[in-house]
Amino acid sequence: MTPDRRTFLTSAGLAALAVGTSAVTSGCTPSGGASGGGAPAPGTSATLSVPVDSIPVGGGKILDNAAFVVTQPTAGEFKAFNKTCTHQGCPVSSIEGPNIVCRCHGANFSIVDGSVTKGPATKPLRPATAVLEGAEVKISAS
Ligand code: FES
Repeated sequence: MTPDRRTFLTSAGLAALAVGTSAVTSGCTPSGGASGGGAPAPGTSATLSVPVDSIPVGGGKILDNAAFVVTQPTAGEFKAFNKTCTHQGCPVSSIEGPNIVCRCHGANFSIVDGSVTKGPATKPLRPATAVLEGAEVKISAS
């Protein structure tokens, strides 16, 4: 084997490895500025304000421009969670009844405590802090 051929084969192997790594990390498509586990999304470290009247009782709201989902399981009780699904990192996509739903693979999480109510996820959503202040709920990372 000549040095030129060895150099070529090494380069080809590294290129194939890079392509393979890229394919693995692009399995989910985060949206709305959410992070799939990499750099923090906008609003992850700051406190956000969400109007109370925009959060349905017995449901919740997925924030478009921040990393959180905020819920109101019962009137006046507010909870917040990181909206990154603990299965493979997709942002959760909807709130259906008492469940926060990730459509990537169908996992469901409780609006009460973020616990898994349907797999394939096995870990709860990461909790965040939600504090009622007047007509707004202040949300920040825990
Ligand atoms: S990433 Fe949410 S169910 Fe797989």
